[in-house]
Amino acid sequence: MTEPKPSVSPKTQDLLKRRARAEAGGGPERAKAQHQRGKLLARERIDLLLDEDSFEEIDLLIGKNRPELGSEDGESPADGVVAGYGKINGRGVCVFAQDFTVSGGSLGLAHARKICKLLDRAVEAGVPVVGLCDSGGARIQEGVDALGGYAEIFHRNVLASGVVPQISVVLGPCAGGAVYSPALTDFVFMVEETSHMFITGPDVVRQATGEQCDFETLGGAKTHSEKSGVCHFRAASEQDCFRQVRELLDYIPSNWKQPAPSVMLSDDAARPSEILDSIAASDSKKPYDIREVIGEIADGHRFLEVHRDFAKNIVAGFIRLGGESVGVVANNPAVLSGALDIDASEKAGRFVRFCDAFGIPLLTLVDVPGYWPGLAQEHGGIIRKGAKLLYAYAEATVPKITVILRKAYGGAYDVMSSKHIRGDINYAWPGAEIAVMGAAGAVEIIHRREIASAANPEAKRRELVQSYVERFASPYQAAKRGYVDEIIEAGKTRQKVVSALRFLKNKAAPAPAKKHGNIPL
Ligand code: HXC
Repeated sequence: MTEPKPSVSPKTQDLLKRRARAEAGGGPERAKAQHQRGKLLARERIDLLLDEDSFEEIDLLIGKNRPELGSEDGESPADGVVAGYGKINGRGVCVFAQDFTVSGGSLGLAHARKICKLLDRAVEAGVPVVGLCDSGGARIQEGVDALGGYAEIFHRNVLASGVVPQISVVLGPCAGGAVYSPALTDFVFMVEETSHMFITGPDVVRQATGEQCDFETLGGAKTHSEKSGVCHFRAASEQDCFRQVRELLDYIPSNWKQPAPSVMLSDDAARPSEILDSIAASDSKKPYDIREVIGEIADGHRFLEVHRDFAKNIVAGFIRLGGESVGVVANNPAVLSGALDIDASEKAGRFVRFCDAFGIPLLTLVDVPGYWPGLAQEHGGIIRKGAKLLYAYAEATVPKITVILRKAYGGAYDVMSSKHIRGDINYAWPGAEIAVMGAAGAVEIIHRREIASAANPEAKRRELVQSYVERFASPYQAAKRGYVDEIIEAGKTRQKVVSALRFLKNKAAPAPAKKHGNIPL
């Protein structure tokens, strides 16, 4: 806190007093209450997030100062939001932190305009924005000004989308329409037990539907990480949360025109992997965790997973290959056999679009039996929602490298960054099955009569399955047609993808002129 010093001029002393009053926020009692809730203060949060002594505050002296509302200058310190710019791991970033000690961090007009100003500066300066949210929502006393303030933020979130990365860190309540600013941003972080997001609270839910719930089950970090998919990163504490934000920023560029930072780890690009060889040799139906494959391929075996607890049948996140940041999307045979479903399509589709918007190359690891069948999926809209991933891949112009590991069946083969939707370099492991459908299902359709009339239907079935796999499901059919560029030894996958990535580094792919496409939302 800035303390007035006796040696300075009266005007400077006056300035320091004003600053000190604004920096004190809602005062010591409310600060104590905030700590008792297990939460940090806005300025403590900024200090933990940013590089030491890098924060430059703007609009500290803004206050409500609305005599028509009966408020006086200085009554609403910084109007409940601390805003400014600083550095994370040496790179510029804009940050705002709502101050729950001032009117519960509620959003009035001056508060909203501070955030809007910061978003405008971030776009012009080409730096990411990190918003630390802890707010009772629209400031009730400011009525339509508060609602309008939110809408002005939403508008800027949309205009900034794809220009600079936007990160929302929810560290307290975030209710009503206020949730839509985080929802419009690229990544949402939440902390267990203290972060809550919902459109209507437990009381309204009970009155409207009779359902019983508490803040945690309705909109806590676990709920939004596992069920709704609103939360991309869940943390055990605020400290852990800020560490994760800093880690994520290391993988992504400051804006859409700049490359992501490159970090060279001492890891041989040609490092072979026996683990990958053994997975390639396994039965194509045997489950395994795809993260093991990702770790084998990545520089230093490091992987930052996004949406770790949501739609676990597909895995998405960032790795480095030869020092460069790469977005990975991979079917996970350990969950639902790695099949695509609604949640997986939406999760991966949004990730692909983020990477494409910010020039991050994509590595797609394919081990997919198809789309997950059933009434729930069909009635839930797998057709239109599943189309999102297809659209995202087909639209993406960043370098796209695909490796088909053990199988790629049906429409899922097409969707998972196939050559036909502009995959740049497409590899397959030697045992990969690529076909319209799995052998067991296929022989029942095309050889039904032959099996029924056979003296030993079971033996016949086995023989036909074997023949189908050799004739139709081998990767050589795809390689012969150029749909797969090369069949590679599984253990050499890292070497191959690093080399392909280096080759594609300056890729420029034209897109047809248009205002914008119409992704199936
Ligand atoms: C003005 C508010 C406020 C609000 C809280 N406060 N919310 N002031 N407008 N929306 C003030 C309180 O009066 C109190 O002031 C201080 O913040 C702390 O609040 P408490 O209730 O004491 O804290 P706590 O018990 O921790 O409860 C926090 C809370 C609760 C769960 C957030 O305050 C609450 O339910 N608030 C209302 C939430 C809400 O419904 N907001 C509107 C959502 S709709 P003092 O002076 O005593 O410290 C919305 C529409 C947005 O936001 C539309 C965008 C399109």
